Order: sequence, then structure tokens, then C-alpha cells
Amino acid sequence: MALYIGVMSGTSLDGIDIALVDFSQQGMKLRAAETYPFDEQLRRDLVALIDSGRCHLQQLGQLDMALGHAYADAINQLLAETQTPAENIEAIGCHGQTVYHAPEAAFPFSMQIGNAHVIAEKTGIDTVADFRQRDMLLGGQGAPLVPAFHQALFHSQKHDRVIANIGGIGNITILPADTETPVSGFDTGPGNVLLDQWYQQHHRDLYDENGQWARDGEVDEDFLQLLLADPFLQQPAPKSTGREYFNLNWLTQKLAELDKPIKARSVQKTLLQMTATSIAQAIQHYAAQTDEVFVCGGGAHNEVLMQTLRDKLPEMQVSTTSTLGLAPDWVEACAFAWLAQQFTLHQPGNLPAVTGASRAAILGALYSSSEAS
Ligand SMILES: Nc1ncnc2c1ncn2[C@@H]1O[C@H](COP(=O)(O)OP(=O)(O)OP(=O)(O)O)[C@@H](O)[C@H]1O
Ligand SMILES: [Mg+2]
Repeated sequence: MALYIGVMSGTSLDGIDIALVDFSQQGMKLRAAETYPFDEQLRRDLVALIDSGRCHLQQLGQLDMALGHAYADAINQLLAETQTPAENIEAIGCHGQTVYHAPEAAFPFSMQIGNAHVIAEKTGIDTVADFRQRDMLLGGQGAPLVPAFHQALFHSQKHDRVIANIGGIGNITILPADTETPVSGFDTGPGNVLLDQWYQQHHRDLYDENGQWARDGEVDEDFLQLLLADPFLQQPAPKSTGREYFNLNWLTQKLAELDKPIKARSVQKTLLQMTATSIAQAIQHYAAQTDEVFVCGGGAHNEVLMQTLRDKLPEMQVSTTSTLGLAPDWVEACAFAWLAQQFTLHQPGNLPAVTGASRAAILGALYSSSEAS
């Protein structure tokens, strides 16, 4: 048996996804998966830290530990619910919570918190974390890291495929049928992050269920063009981004630039249109020959977003990764279980053609659960 656990909490801060995965067979088998909600105070503290980019160092240290405990408790809960002994698990791959992603800094870095010592100690399972640093040291973006997993699981020899993850941020993986052509991929821009933040300004819920609110809004063409002209969307790949760039401040600034009144609901619809358009344009620009597009991440549940994407890519089959046997909610968590396996097998986790790193590298660092002998 080769059981691994993947832990993912992404930019949307919608919860902690945990997947229990068996890699002993060809492909993989998802044994169990669950999303555990954040404690409300912890969530609020994380949002405040990430969106402001500022905090007292003591607060950062506390959040790192508190989140480590939250991850560990969620993992232990899944193990208890599935009656899986900890000793059956080879390793945990924990992405952590990105609090700052800075690939263009003088010393590029990507900071994830959620203390992995706590996880190893509380679960008794070896934990691999800090996946992005090495790739960045090698000149890469440190993101996206899921394409190698997409390649391992979703490649087809018959069809050119694209996997489009619509989480907080959107990213695509281009999987050419011809294995001679390298796999590529990059962040396309905002996924749900702006939709969620605008929605939260006007409602009590965290997101616009099935795109209901956006549905009857009107797309404002001037605003759409202004949004699509953003330098990140125009920038060539490789590229990556995060919530420190695409956030409410960004949106407020764009609204000020528009300099005309626009209904809140139309803002939501225009943001949705921008998200779908930026993903579709990225696919058309970099992978025009694609036959099939499979969407994963929470955006796959937004029917209006999915329909807009289909309308923008009429020559391609657009569905979700469920068609390929893996529900869209668990792809990212499974990817980090897979990256933990890559680490334990001393295999690379990054694809240099994707991140721009100078070479393929073993990603992550081990937080051992072993007791001293
Ligand atoms: N039924 C739904 N209708 C509309 N939107 C949904 C629905 N379910 C989930 N979402 C959207 O998906 C988001 C969560 O997606 P996901 O968990 O993939 O993102 P994430 O945690 O930010 O991960 P990452 O950015 O790393 O890919 C929610 O915040 C919400 O915007
Ligand atoms: Mg999530």
C-alpha cells in the first residue's frame, strides 16, 4: 500500500481540503476526502494578514502555529472517520497557507504558513511541506506546482487536453497528446478571488452559489476591457500571481478608473466574464489545438462561469475533471499527496517548462515524525 495524505488550503480561504490517496495501483485511488471549515476567528485573522500584507511578527508566529494545529486536527479527524491507522500513511504533503507570493522580489520567495512540526508531532506521520522555495531559488515562479500531477494523472495520447483549475487564482495546464511536446502551464489571473470578495461586500455568505447573483447582472463592456487590460493578464508565461495582487484594493482602483456608476450586480457579472475570458484567451493563445478542457477547483460548481467558458471556447469540449474520474474539489489536495510521494521517491515535483526554473528539482522539506532512538 502507498497511502498518502494531501492537505490544501488555497487563496479562497474557504476551508482545509484533505485527501487520503492510494498510489499503489496504476493511476491513483481516492480513498476519502473532506473539506474542514476554518475556525471563524482564524479565518478572519488570515484574511486580514493576507489582504493587508502587514502584521506584528508575534501575530505571524501565532497564526503559523494555530494553523498547524488546525491542519493536524483536521487530518486526525479524517483518519478517525475512515478508521485509518496513522502508521499506514507514508507521508503527508501539506501546501500550507500562502500569506505572500513574491516571484519578482529581489530575493524571490513564497511564504506559506501552517507549522509542519505541529502536523508531524500531532499526527505521528512524516510531513513534507515548503514545496515552492526550491523552484524559486532555481529561477522559477514556484507556481503552479500542480501541472506535474495533472500530467501524471490526466494525460491522453489521443487528445490535446487542458486542465483549468479555477480556485482563488486560475491556472491552466496544457497537456499535448504528443509526448515530445513539453507540458506547459501558468496562472491565468483571478479565479474566484475577486468574485468572492465583491460578493462578500454585498452579502453575508462567502460566495455566489452557482453564480445566482451574477446571472442576471449585465456585463459592462467598458469595465470588462479595462479589467482585461491589466498588465498581469497581458504578461507572457511563465507567470504566477496571488491574493496580494488580485484583491479588493485592486478592484476598487479599477472601479475608480472606470469613472462612471455601475450596479453592484453588474460588477459581479463583469468580473465573472473577465475570469472566463482570461482563461479562454490563455487557452486560445497557448493551446489553440486543444480538444478537451477539464475544469477543477471550486469554480467548476459555478454554472454561470462554466457556461460562459463554454461559450468562449465553442470548438472545445468543456467539462469538469469528474469526467476523468476525479471530482473537481479534490484535485489540488491529491496533487499535494502526489508531491509528497514524489519527495519520498526522490523524484522531481516541478516542471521547468511551467515554472521557468533552470532544472527539475525535488520539492519540499521533511518534518520527521520519528522518535529519537
Ligand atoms: N457551488 C458553488 N458555486 C459558486 N462558486 C463556488 C461553489 N463552490 C465553490 N465555489 C467557489 O470556489 C471557491 C473555492 O475554490 P477552491 O477551494 O478550489 O479554491 P482555493 O481554496 O482558493 O484553492 P487554490 O487557489 O489553491 O486553487 C469558493 O471560494 C467559491 O468562490
Ligand atoms: Mg479551497
